[in-house]
Amino acid sequence: MPEQVTLTVDGQQVTVPSGATLLDAITALGIETPTLCFDPSLTQPSACRVCVVELKGSRVLTPSCSRAAENGMEVLTDSPRVRRARKGVIELLQSSVDTSLAATIGKFAPRYDAQPDRYGGATVEQPPRDSDNWLYVRDYARCILCYKCVEACGSDVQHTFALTAAGRGFGAHIDTGFDVPLGESPCVYCGNCVAVCPTGALLGRTEFEMRRDGTWDESRQKEVVTICSYCGVGCELDLHVQDNQIVKVSSPRENSVTHGFLCVKGRFGYDYMRGGSKRRQKALAGRDEES
Ligand code: SF4
Ligand code: SF4
Ligand code: FES
Repeated sequence: MPEQVTLTVDGQQVTVPSGATLLDAITALGIETPTLCFDPSLTQPSACRVCVVELKGSRVLTPSCSRAAENGMEVLTDSPRVRRARKGVIELLQSSVDTSLAATIGKFAPRYDAQPDRYGGATVEQPPRDSDNWLYVRDYARCILCYKCVEACGSDVQHTFALTAAGRGFGAHIDTGFDVPLGESPCVYCGNCVAVCPTGALLGRTEFEMRRDGTWDESRQKEVVTICSYCGVGCELDLHVQDNQIVKVSSPRENSVTHGFLCVKGRFGYDYMRGGSKRRQKALAGRDEES
């Protein structure tokens, strides 16, 4: 097998290591390509099809995120056929779920002139599941079934297998197994599913509540880099701080130790700095009074 392969993308020649994908070659040329289900740390399900490209000699469009680059390939990333396909994918997603927090769709929908109204309203309507744990919220009305959370919870990262895909057709959904509440599932609340979700279907509770209350404002947030002090592994943390309060914790995807993944303590163990236990006790008491 050659160590490198040379191909042509939009008329430009590019050489990439053997085993690289078309997306790697396209990215090496600085050409922006929308992706939703792609994550370099996860198995590629090639589920969303928003990254498709035209490959000379191929009958169908091909997902660039998973197709291996080969010597002599001729790839088009912006042909009328590619633009039409990407527009269709975005329109179908926008017309079936709430994609307002999906950054990729927000960025690329105008580029491809997506008109989701052609397909009617959202077909997935369900209230957010916000009462089965205090750490994160599952709002599957935003879920595009990209399977990233399933991969992150499974053998790619966490090896907990709390999530799976279930159902068929319009009934397809992400499930905890017999749809049990999260607390009755094997979930260990690492939040790695939250970290990879591209649509905001999974959000840390603080972010979910602040967005719901209209107080989430990324323009007022700064990121403070630190090291997690809960154990000796020393994971790198990005503290997202708004008005002197930590509102979210992530880890850089490019970090060679964490690859962006954390445990429950690193990701969610900051609430005590916000007077967390009192806040939670008050909220719990209020909920009890209501019920
Ligand atoms: S929080 Fe962690 S263990 Fe729980 S479902 Fe998400 S990835 Fe799986
Ligand atoms: S919850 Fe998020 S990560 Fe999981 S399948 Fe839906 S959109 Fe993808
Ligand atoms: S990003 Fe390639 S198929 Fe989803």
